[in-house]
Amino acid sequence: MARHLITSAIPYINGIKHLGNLVGSQLPADLYARYQRARGSEVLFLCATDEHGTPAELAAAIAGKDVAEYCAEMWSVQKKLSDGFHLSFDHFGRSSSEQNHRLTQHFAGRLHEAGLVDEVMEKQIYSISDGRFLPDRYIEGTCPSCGYEKARGDQCENCTRQLDPGDLINPKSAISGATDLELRDTRHLYLKQSHMRDQLNDWIDSMTEWPILTTSIAKKWLNEGEGLRDRGITRDLEWGIPVKRGDEDWPGMEGKVFYVWFDAPIEYIACASEWTAANGGGDADWERWWRTDKGAEDVHYTQFMGKDNVPFHTLSFPITIIGSGEPWKLVDYIKSFNYLNYDGGQFSTSLGRGIFMDQALEILPADYWRWWLLSHAPENSDSEFTWENFQMSVNKDLADVLGNYVSRVTKFCRSKFGTEVPSGGKWDQSEFALAEELSHRLKAYQGHMDAIEVRKASAELRAMWVAGNEYLQSAAPWLSFRTDPEKAAGQIRFALNLIPFYAIVSSPFIPSTSAAMLNAMNLIDQSWPGDVKQSLSALAAGHVFDVPEALFAKITDSQREDWQKRFSGRRD
Ligand code: MF3
Ligand code: ZN
Repeated sequence: MARHLITSAIPYINGIKHLGNLVGSQLPADLYARYQRARGSEVLFLCATDEHGTPAELAAAIAGKDVAEYCAEMWSVQKKLSDGFHLSFDHFGRSSSEQNHRLTQHFAGRLHEAGLVDEVMEKQIYSISDGRFLPDRYIEGTCPSCGYEKARGDQCENCTRQLDPGDLINPKSAISGATDLELRDTRHLYLKQSHMRDQLNDWIDSMTEWPILTTSIAKKWLNEGEGLRDRGITRDLEWGIPVKRGDEDWPGMEGKVFYVWFDAPIEYIACASEWTAANGGGDADWERWWRTDKGAEDVHYTQFMGKDNVPFHTLSFPITIIGSGEPWKLVDYIKSFNYLNYDGGQFSTSLGRGIFMDQALEILPADYWRWWLLSHAPENSDSEFTWENFQMSVNKDLADVLGNYVSRVTKFCRSKFGTEVPSGGKWDQSEFALAEELSHRLKAYQGHMDAIEVRKASAELRAMWVAGNEYLQSAAPWLSFRTDPEKAAGQIRFALNLIPFYAIVSSPFIPSTSAAMLNAMNLIDQSWPGDVKQSLSALAAGHVFDVPEALFAKITDSQREDWQKRFSGRRD
């Protein structure tokens, strides 16, 4: 049995994520996890909240709460929303977990022993007005590389370059806008990333199957300009993982914590350990996913993330893993995404612009969003959400094509034959032809899903739905019923059989609709179709079914206009 370890970039704890965040990592990761499970693979699918760093500290301060309390509350909020979107994580962990504290300190200790950590006395930006050291991302200025004026001290959002605050032109405090910044002495740990340049380069070169988006970003940071730079992995903050090497204190590092981007990816590992702890397992149960000396050598590991996360996953985290000198599992495939824009601009958490996960679920069930987002995933370029396009896709693909098919077939059968699959008639040329077409399309669909080509997979799935509709239209059992009820019975039996087939193959995209379809058809065997002809005979004559409620409601023009207005400003 194939074994798939799948992780989604872990969302920052502060605030509810918008649909652009969702489609850039968690949702496609869920699609893949569901698909792999449906194909019979053993899957461990992990995600967590990214809880450290200043954004959490500041958000807690604004909410008037203690950081730990704030994080615990926001974790519950995010957990509830991911359940609402049917994200099927085996565990939704927290980067502030005890397991992550231990592992992060462990890795720091190993890197230190390997001679990969430098202690550097440096000058850090201190904001006199704010009365504190300013963490990288709270310094704003002009990117030295592309000239973008709102680049942050850790990274330029515009060109994805990783930065140090000192690189910024005209720096100011992002908290207060203050420009009375001064440099003060402070001691920090640096990871000697540059020592591992050649090793990383070889490793990335060996990943010939990676998507171009992933490889091009990785190569750019590896080879361009000064190339791979050493990176500070500690911060002068209170909230975070205390700097230690293994169990020991680190002299000179008292009161400091690890940089959030150092501990966050380690949470992918810690999360597996949290998962076993939550399920009463032992270390061996998670180590068989993560340690190549303990059973993980046959694991295939896939990571999902937005493009701004790529440098951390292709360079920084692999350096932590390789640098430790221990046999941890390295990623096999990195699926990265461009950005989803919102109605002529960007989705933005800080500006409250766009649609956020909680709001989306208030107006429509998860499957409507899942279908639109996945079928418009920003794979080859940025893509854009518009209400017109959303309305059109939902009404066409979901309501007219899939929903309508299910309702026509089940209602017609009920009215002419009752709610039992009718006997009589047999497959004719058109039934064989459709079964043939569907088995070709299913192969293509599987190929795209295996390759995580999300848009292509969705197009193939849609084509399978369309083919059923076309069959129904041309077979026209309502006409044959008048002259040849036997023939109509054969056609409708075939048509009913398409419903569980669609339900199973569509389940990675629209899981709750699929469940409703299977439920209505009372189908027990939900295994992935191997032989299409055979699965299209799963419902035998006499099998009892129910006519399901309408699977999808169309979005009316007035709803669309209302929502467009409601979501045009800043979220409250
Ligand atoms: N919280 C980060 C973001 O939303 C992602 C962290 S991914 C990890 O951009 F690798 F660090 F875990
Ligand atoms: Zn830039």
